[in-house]
Amino acid sequence: MRTLVTGGAGYIGSVMTRLLLDAGHEVTVLDNLSYGHRSAVSNGAKLVVGDVGDELVLNRLFSQVPGPESPVPSYDAVLHFAGFIRVPESVEKPDLYFDNNVRKGIALLNAVGQARISNFVFSSTAAVYGEPDKVPVAEDAPLLPTNPYGDTKRVFEELLASYHRAYGLRYACLRYFNVAGAFDGLGEDHRPETHLIPLILKAALEPGRVFEIYGDDYPTKDGTCVRDYIHVHDLCRAHLLALDALSNPKSKTQNPESLIFNLGSQNGYTNREVFAAAEKVTGCKIPVRMAECRPGDAPALIASSEKIRKELGWRPAKTLDDIIQDAWQFHRRNPAGYPD
Ligand SMILES: NC(=O)c1ccc[n+]([C@@H]2O[C@H](COP(=O)([O-])OP(=O)(O)OC[C@H]3O[C@@H](n4cnc5c(N)ncnc54)[C@H](O)[C@@H]3O)[C@@H](O)[C@H]2O)c1
Repeated sequence: MRTLVTGGAGYIGSVMTRLLLDAGHEVTVLDNLSYGHRSAVSNGAKLVVGDVGDELVLNRLFSQVPGPESPVPSYDAVLHFAGFIRVPESVEKPDLYFDNNVRKGIALLNAVGQARISNFVFSSTAAVYGEPDKVPVAEDAPLLPTNPYGDTKRVFEELLASYHRAYGLRYACLRYFNVAGAFDGLGEDHRPETHLIPLILKAALEPGRVFEIYGDDYPTKDGTCVRDYIHVHDLCRAHLLALDALSNPKSKTQNPESLIFNLGSQNGYTNREVFAAAEKVTGCKIPVRMAECRPGDAPALIASSEKIRKELGWRPAKTLDDIIQDAWQFHRRNPAGYPD
């Protein structure tokens, strides 16, 4: 398949690019490098440095190519990872998030529609559920995001449903819980970093750095927040399955033209448990202190991933220890992150 991966120079998009190439697909990466890294893009993929909201860039990318009888779409599928991802920043600057994650996303969707590209896979998030009443959270739980980041993802999911109804775009919304780990030299290098596991590992590596736990009076077993961690390799494998289900007319999946799946392990770990696992895996005594809880942090987010297990036969293969071990290797090899 000819695929376009937006945000393919970022953490998850770079691993996805690698898996697509390994599976024999052609990959073009579209990334404006605002947060991505040129050196995270695998050899074998073509990197186009540009913005998903730039119509000129999109027109150039999506101009049709000659086919056996008539011109055909330039890509078979778009996998859309590009976006801004920091919840606290979205609370301070919602305009930035609606602009990048929604307005520019609409430009991309319009270009996809005009180019008659049929398959679209979208990086959604557990943040669309807000603070769910019931955990594990199933896909039919109410979508009540508690911050603008989650709002942008919910809105984009609605846009996909509308574009599907109006123009027949086949799409998958994959709602990720907490993604972590590394694969084949590709790992997490967000600047600034806000995710738990890399923050713990950075505190293990950088002298003077202390890991902060945000709040210990949540209604959980040790008072710290509970999250569900999924290895980036398991997550990207699920994308390959979703892509296959979307593009295969013989797919036995229910509603194969509009897939919605949670991606998580169905296991929850408190922040203290993740911290303890990191000390065990790294063999380091890691400096830690308690800090104020952050507004909008749900006490517990655990996925029910029964739906994708049943419909696509997906199962996460990696444990929390595997996730930390692989991330630890990446951070030890790249203490200052990617070179660019
Ligand atoms: N990392 C997680 O735990 C997690 C959880 C839930 C959902 N997600 C979603 O997964 C996607 C990827 O997350 P990530 O952790 O890899 O983030 P990332 O910041 O590492 O990657 C995002 C990439 O998108 C690029 N980008 C942003 N805006 C762009 C634009 N307008 N045009 C072109 N490129 C642009 C950035 O340069 C970056 O390379 C995001 O959409 C995020 O919301 C991530």
